[in-house]
Amino acid sequence: MDTLSLIKQPIEAELVDFIDLFNNALDHEDGLLQMVLNHIKQRAGKRMRPILILLIAKNFGKVSSITQHAAVGLELLHTASLVHDDVVDEAAERRGQASVNADYDNKVAVLVGDYVLSTALLHVSYTHSEMIVRRLAELGRTLSDGEILQLSNIQNKEVTEEVYYKIIERKTAALFETCAAIGAESAGATEEQVEAARLFGKNLGIVFQIRDDIFDYYDSEVEIGKPTGNDFAEGKLTLPIIYALNATQNEDMMRLIHKVKAHNVTHEEVETLVRFAKENGGIEYAQRRMWDFHAEAQGFIDKYVKDETIRTSLQTYLDYVIKRRK
Ligand code: IPE
Ligand code: IPE
Ligand code: MG
Ligand code: MG
Repeated sequence: MDTLSLIKQPIEAELVDFIDLFNNALDHEDGLLQMVLNHIKQRAGKRMRPILILLIAKNFGKVSSITQHAAVGLELLHTASLVHDDVVDEAAERRGQASVNADYDNKVAVLVGDYVLSTALLHVSYTHSEMIVRRLAELGRTLSDGEILQLSNIQNKEVTEEVYYKIIERKTAALFETCAAIGAESAGATEEQVEAARLFGKNLGIVFQIRDDIFDYYDSEVEIGKPTGNDFAEGKLTLPIIYALNATQNEDMMRLIHKVKAHNVTHEEVETLVRFAKENGGIEYAQRRMWDFHAEAQGFIDKYVKDETIRTSLQTYLDYVIKRRK
């Protein structure tokens, strides 16, 4: 069985219901909005977040309609954040097709992103759970906080791993964290179990973003379905280069970094930086750090996941986050 099928195995039927509910949530009868929503729906993502909620819920009980509405809300929030992210990052591709901003324009992408975000709120309200609504609202704030921190950090002359982790915890890991916590909560897990699940999601999410940042150092656009090499052009420094700079204190490279942050770096200079990061162990270091967070996450599976099929699935999920090629 392939990796994704193995991951989905314990929740196959629930995932079919999820997909129905998700697609219905983005139905609209006419006009430009309908066209753009159909564009978004025609290429689904990997659905890593809903899969996580469903698996965690099943682990602690069963997937209820509360779980499903929460899953739809969270995947919609994720979807809205990608539509907006591609405006902010000026990215022309997403999920192997033109991004909304590229196919239409920035105005359309901002407005449709808002529509999808509001649809997320609506769906979460269907859970009738004040706790879940609150978690989603807090999550929305955290995601924006992370994106704004990332933006303001471009002006920061210092290059530290500490700020890097702060950014990825907020812009990415927070979403996985909330998925795992809500999954557990919706199945009636105890406070201790919810907290353990939340931490699992957080560690998993950190691994997820480090892996994503490594993608940017390679030409693999075809398989991952979004542009690579974009981070430097946007002024963003990620773990491999942060490590190489701090390990070597190379002044020539530091000068290039200041050009990255001032948005006046050339394509050749970016290539030089990518080569420098690779030659100085940046990728290996990022991989080691991923395994550290993987080890943290492993503790949850070992302690809280007893069912054989769910265990295999969550283990495959966790390993996939490191090894994934898209
Ligand atoms: C993309 O997430 C945003 C990041 C956190 C890097 P995914 O890679 O899960 O996106 P889709 O939903 O599968 O397209
Ligand atoms: C990841 O942002 C988090 C969000 C999408 C909000 P990135 O800008 O790093 O992710 P990609 O590479 O565009 O998916
Ligand atoms: Mg971004
Ligand atoms: Mg982006």
